[in-house]
Amino acid sequence: MLVRRFLTPAHDAALDTLAFWMAQAGMTARRDTGGNLVGRYEGLTPNAPALLIGSHIDSVRNGGRYDGALGVTLGIDCVQALSDSGRRLPFAVEVIAFGDEEGSRFPASMACSRAVAGTVDPAVMEMTDGDGVSLAQAFAAFGLDPTRLEEAARRPGEVLAFLEAHIEQGPVLEAEGLALGVVTAIAAQKRLMVRFTGLAGHAGTTPMGLRKDPGPAAAEAILAVEQICGPHGDLGGKDGLVGTVGRITALPGAFNVIPGAVEFSIDVRAETSATRDAAVVAITAQVEAIAARRDLTVSVSLMQALAESPCDPDLTALLEAAVAETGQLARRLPSGAGHDAMVMADLCPTAMLFIRCEGGISHNPREAVTAADCAKAARAMLGFIQKLSDQFSLSSHPAPSGRPG
Ligand code: GLV
Ligand code: MN
Ligand code: MN
Repeated sequence: MLVRRFLTPAHDAALDTLAFWMAQAGMTARRDTGGNLVGRYEGLTPNAPALLIGSHIDSVRNGGRYDGALGVTLGIDCVQALSDSGRRLPFAVEVIAFGDEEGSRFPASMACSRAVAGTVDPAVMEMTDGDGVSLAQAFAAFGLDPTRLEEAARRPGEVLAFLEAHIEQGPVLEAEGLALGVVTAIAAQKRLMVRFTGLAGHAGTTPMGLRKDPGPAAAEAILAVEQICGPHGDLGGKDGLVGTVGRITALPGAFNVIPGAVEFSIDVRAETSATRDAAVVAITAQVEAIAARRDLTVSVSLMQALAESPCDPDLTALLEAAVAETGQLARRLPSGAGHDAMVMADLCPTAMLFIRCEGGISHNPREAVTAADCAKAARAMLGFIQKLSDQFSLSSHPAPSGRPG
């Protein structure tokens, strides 16, 4: 099973390997105080602002090989090409491997990119993983000082732009016979944790009519999520709305015990925060009605909220031109998956390149890309870097318009 969770020995080993590759490509690599690995390839002048290229190195449980990691290795490939030809640019290029984009260990994700963007809430240190280990404890065990998370923040002037390459994780490019796509915007998302609490009891001796069983309540609530977000709900089909229950836990969790509590996650996404929020309001109302009808208590906790994140129009146009130069149509498409780019947009303008993946399959060990598509992605990224460099040389400051915070 492939799993690389945040701040684990697997994460540590991956950072060592990446640091080695970064050094081979002519970069100076360092681990920052936020759990990220950053390699820097200097520009023509020292301390020049940097183009950041990267993605995340953590994975979901039983995930694939490319989700996140490909964006980091493609960044290293681009710098390798620059250093092989001895080229220096008017800006530095930094490749970053963010530590936690998936949230597969702790309930909220992207603390690492938030730290870099300067938007992290130090209270994240209190969240705990499934074993009750706090983020602060995990940081300390990894050799990081949990009180220094915010020191990973970059000042806006020192980062020119952020470019993220990522597998599409969907079927659109493959269906259209295209290797690459240019992302227009990343969907808004919310993560909720719901807990129904009843009364634990003996599975053999408690008559059905005398139970306070949160299990069937959870089943009803999960169907409500499907109904509200599905094509027949009031919001059905609006703004690409999707809702998922991906984790369910019955406590204490035994064949012969009526659960005392059932906890489950809900992930809701849409292209607009308004549609996402309308779905969350409807789901919360249903969950509360189910609890009241079944005489259970319920809590609904918001674990994470991310607004939709448009990519920078000027950078996107540069990326489109670079993709077109690889000989294919520059297909624009939105991203339903979350990415570090949506957090980095608070720091600097962002652009995202998608790479076709086989069958659109992701978050699955069957994730696959072709070497030819990856080579094409690297060419498009290098073309983008060249165009940014040309633009930078023409004006004393870069053209990208950025996004209001
Ligand atoms: C990350 O893969 C996400 O979209 O949640
Ligand atoms: Mn990813
Ligand atoms: Mn993912």
